[in-house]
Amino acid sequence: MVDWSKVEALNPPKLTQLFERDADRVAKFSVDVGGLHFDFSKTHLDADAVAAFEGLAKSANFAAKRDALFAGEKVNSSEGRAVTHTAERGEGSPDDVAQAAALHARMRGLIDAIEGEALGSIRHILHIGIGGSALGPDLLIDALGRQADRYDVAVVSNIDGVALEEVFDAFDPHATLLVLASKTFTTIETLTNAESALDWMRDDGVEDPYGRVIALTAAPDKAIEWGVDETRVLPFAESVGGRYSLWSSIGFPAAMALGWDAFQELLEGAAEMDRHFRLTAAHENAPMLAAFADLYYAQVRKCQTRATFAYDERLRLLPSYLQQLEMESNGKGVTADGVPLDRPSSPIVWGGVGTDAQHAVFQLLHQGTNLVPVEFVAVIEAGDSLAAEHHEALLLNAFAQGAALMKGRENAADPQRAYPGDRPSSTILIDQLDARALGALLSFYEHRTFVSGALLGINPYDQFGVELGKEMAKAAGEGGAGFDASTQDLIKRAFGE
Ligand code: F6P
Repeated sequence: MVDWSKVEALNPPKLTQLFERDADRVAKFSVDVGGLHFDFSKTHLDADAVAAFEGLAKSANFAAKRDALFAGEKVNSSEGRAVTHTAERGEGSPDDVAQAAALHARMRGLIDAIEGEALGSIRHILHIGIGGSALGPDLLIDALGRQADRYDVAVVSNIDGVALEEVFDAFDPHATLLVLASKTFTTIETLTNAESALDWMRDDGVEDPYGRVIALTAAPDKAIEWGVDETRVLPFAESVGGRYSLWSSIGFPAAMALGWDAFQELLEGAAEMDRHFRLTAAHENAPMLAAFADLYYAQVRKCQTRATFAYDERLRLLPSYLQQLEMESNGKGVTADGVPLDRPSSPIVWGGVGTDAQHAVFQLLHQGTNLVPVEFVAVIEAGDSLAAEHHEALLLNAFAQGAALMKGRENAADPQRAYPGDRPSSTILIDQLDARALGALLSFYEHRTFVSGALLGINPYDQFGVELGKEMAKAAGEGGAGFDASTQDLIKRAFGE
């Protein structure tokens, strides 16, 4: 029986008091791993809270669940599957690690072939995929690709043709590699966009458009049936979940754009975080402390959201990536045993880019009635070569916002100008934004999600919640009979009788 009683009884003092009471608080609630510094000291975690969560973790058999994940056991119980994204970076059962390494070798072989004579004229990569088959590669390339200058890469996910047409306008079809990423190879958006991209190539006289298609999938037979040559199908294991798949062949466009060495470093950075997560005691374990804070705010303080602000333009896609990772993983209403969850599941994850967000949504963070735990992600080494004042100002703003949220300001004479303070934040400070650090960062987020799921008793690895909408979209396309009056009216307005 998972025992939440000690966690629910937590009533920590104010953040400023926590600092006053313990001169070592920053050191005690900071963790350094993989070139990343995690500062949880501006959260309400204290020794009592960590002890309460350790007790909760024990009652939830957390250590056994974590061991089962890394051992390749079938922790995705509803789908009867193991969960092997950590094996992609070398941390898993020997069989899973060997399988992932063999598939990486195949991917590398194909990249070498493409970069050799056969397809040497490639300048553009059009990557078509959606959700986990797009967000990860898009983030990697956007974060790290500015200096790489190897290929122009566009990631298109939406079925809205506007997205695809923008790329058609910018790319030369004769110099484009078409990459189709779909774990299932059944996703309507991806297959529809793929057909249109082939038409675009054909219309421009590309002789063998299929010869320019690479498929990244856990369903190689379906890709071959669709028309992709077997030699250009890069499979990955069914046990790698879509939103955890950037480490697999789904990372292909990133490996192309950034180079194989960078892709390898990405995996190594993630593996370092895997080992940290697996081997470090809870009170020094970054993903566990982050999840403890998340659970404290969601379960005890009843915060419905949590916000991540990337104080670095290169990480502007991080909030979208995290939304899928966390909300598709832990946004569930029943436990892994199918019992209704008797408490909130994942908070709504949102965020943006600093300093832009300060001039848009921070008003609510400072004075609104919703308590929003905030996470700042910043990089010490500048990504730009402009005068140092740009990057200095960026970092100082991130740090000052955390301080202001915590400190607040009294103003009895003018309540409009008062700041309640005691608003929590954590900060992730990255030495330099390279592939290794980004690998460690994304692995940290995966494990943090796992901890929350494990302590809530959720299976983070299925996503049945997306199915009903897909089914009904299909039914709508077949006439919409049986739909409610409002939906039928909308269909009629858009398409006529
Ligand atoms: O509809 C949700 C989802 O299944 C995600 O979990 C997944 O990342 C995305 O769609 C894309 O799926 P696929 O890779 O199979 O095309």
